[in-house]
Amino acid sequence: MSIRYQEKTGQLILETASTSYQMNIDGMGYLKHQYYGKKLGQNDMSYLFRTYDHGFSGNPYDMRNNRDYSLDSMAQEYTSFGVGDFRVNSIAASCSNGSRCAEFRYETHEILDGKYAVPGLPYVYDDNDTVHTLIVSLIDTVANIRVKLYYGVFEEKDVITRTAEIINAGSETVWLRKASSMCLELPFGKWDMIHFHGRHCMERQPERVPLFHGVHTLMSGRGMSSHQHNPFVILCDPETTEAHGSCYGMMLMYSGNHKTEIELDQFDSTRVVMGINDDRFRWELGPGMSFQTPEVILSTANGLTELSHRFHRIIRHNVVRSEYKLSHRPVLINNWEATYFDLNEEKIVALAQKAADIGVELFVLDDGWFKNRTDDNAGLGDWIPDTEKLPNGLDGLIAKINGMGLKFGLWVEPEMVNEDSDLYRAHPDWAMTAPNRAPMMARNQLVLDLSREDVHEYIFNTLSALLTKYNITYIKWDFNRPLADVYSHAARPPRQGEVTHRYYLSLYRLYDRLTKAFPHVLFEGCAGGGGRFDAGMLQYSPQIWCSDNTDAISRLTIQYGTSFGYPISTIGSHVSAIPNHQTGRLTPLNTRGTVAMMGAFGYELDLTKLSDEELDEMRAQIKRFKELEPMIHDGLYYRLSSMKESGYYFAWQFVSPDLSRSLLSIVVTNPLANAAPVHVTLKGLDPDAVYSVNGEFECLGAALMHGGYTFPRLTGDYPSMQLDIVKVK
Ligand code: GLA
Repeated sequence: MSIRYQEKTGQLILETASTSYQMNIDGMGYLKHQYYGKKLGQNDMSYLFRTYDHGFSGNPYDMRNNRDYSLDSMAQEYTSFGVGDFRVNSIAASCSNGSRCAEFRYETHEILDGKYAVPGLPYVYDDNDTVHTLIVSLIDTVANIRVKLYYGVFEEKDVITRTAEIINAGSETVWLRKASSMCLELPFGKWDMIHFHGRHCMERQPERVPLFHGVHTLMSGRGMSSHQHNPFVILCDPETTEAHGSCYGMMLMYSGNHKTEIELDQFDSTRVVMGINDDRFRWELGPGMSFQTPEVILSTANGLTELSHRFHRIIRHNVVRSEYKLSHRPVLINNWEATYFDLNEEKIVALAQKAADIGVELFVLDDGWFKNRTDDNAGLGDWIPDTEKLPNGLDGLIAKINGMGLKFGLWVEPEMVNEDSDLYRAHPDWAMTAPNRAPMMARNQLVLDLSREDVHEYIFNTLSALLTKYNITYIKWDFNRPLADVYSHAARPPRQGEVTHRYYLSLYRLYDRLTKAFPHVLFEGCAGGGGRFDAGMLQYSPQIWCSDNTDAISRLTIQYGTSFGYPISTIGSHVSAIPNHQTGRLTPLNTRGTVAMMGAFGYELDLTKLSDEELDEMRAQIKRFKELEPMIHDGLYYRLSSMKESGYYFAWQFVSPDLSRSLLSIVVTNPLANAAPVHVTLKGLDPDAVYSVNGEFECLGAALMHGGYTFPRLTGDYPSMQLDIVKVK
């Protein structure tokens, strides 16, 4: 059993293959945090905590004669609020008498086999793993609020999941103002924070900074997990490298507004509070009602590579739910950068024919296929094929594409509406707009109020009709603007603070219904590129378009950043045209191929404009990707260049699960005159096996891992190289 309770000491111990997590119910009934880190066995870590009078840190009433005892200096599993812990709190609420405090003490706990579910939200599920659940109930008997803390212990995968359920146990309404998913304390040590910030076309840029005293806030209030701050953060020892050092990864499985607060307090103790963003949040909790927070995925490891591997494994196996989760992802061509809105049947058929000739498997018809969609100012909401552009209808086009041996996929943006659409004209109140206020426009579109049941049904029926009527095996589900003027015309004024979260509850239910009704369809998520790249979306869409920036060199940092938390198979990545449409940069085709192969591979350019030589090179790339895909998607991924080296080159490596094969890739981003050749040490090989290195020489795995490999001098514009490392004996 990976969860133990020791009644004598009040210890609750969670154990995975190589980590331990300890908490303690103290004599006063507070649930203290004691330890999370490398495995310890039975050792009770309470000896670590010495208490003394901290001055200006108050004491609970029943401990008023013991000035050493203060919530303000105590490591806790989930905090109280308004009662003297002046750091960032896990929860805030107001009661019907106006009081805004609660002090939670232990009530009971349960240890269960298997993994708990998180009703209404995506969650990490158990996939033939050994998983146990701990539920600890805390209660404040004055405010009558109960908090149930859930812990899922994935033994082999070295992952712990957490969520909190807040229950109104009284007879009067309570208004929740903040309801975070977890509080994780690191009472000792100095920490660097690695977070993933960005913007449209430059998502998930890693930044590593030492924590300073105060509160660091990483958040999105954009109604989407956002291009700006991904809901994933790492805290690591300042000495931590890819290979060594203590590090903690925390990922919120949520696609809406999120907030992570990391406080380094007056006593040099670090607290992380992660969950739904409380700005503009307010939830009415009637008597007996409960509120379920999104789940957090936690892991701790020795080195950043091991940490990433743990996240990759759990997301690939226990988050993604599709039939496609572990299977081959069709090599696709998307027409967006080839035609933009200027598409017609003739152009699409010509493009598809070229794609079929080089071995592409799936044709994706992007934006512009439906009526009144000549640009991005009109048409969203009316999902009816444009018969001017497609005179034989969508079915006529699909028949031709299928006739070439290609599968067919379609772009939709179902959560949106243009004012210039029949849908908006019929139901203006379905759009999110605040009363008496002209709404913020973005791409001239509005967001449909998915918190409404009628809107939910409309979208479900529209998408179901498309998927039933046409032979569609793939959907690119886009979302191209943030939520502003958040207001539901169907909700009472006091409940407007619930709308954004209700929107996401409805979106998840919609995805759940559609993926169950159409299990053979591959869904690819998208939000202006990677603006909703999160574990919540990955439950339903096994891959997500990583960025609208298709420039191979920009993609290096975007994909590098993404790889810290998310598996390679989830990263939608395409070879596009030069000069690149976002940056104007010229890069060789083999560099574009090398970079796109670090993902779910595809093409997005006008193949009809390419030479036979270029098409031949692409044909070879597709053949190669198909051969390597099992290793790229199922194997282990290693970052061989650090953030420091990435101004100069990026190197990375894949190793097959049985260690019989590896692919070493490098792209030089800044060739320097007379510089030392790039040298890397390979990872993860069998030390005793003999490998052939690109068919050029043979070498022991140990030699490649300890002596390394020196690249030949690579010069010119963004040169790249892939090396095949194959076990020969
Ligand atoms: C978004 C997507 C693009 C493309 C366009 C279409 O920006 O990220 O890939 O689908 O919308 O309008």
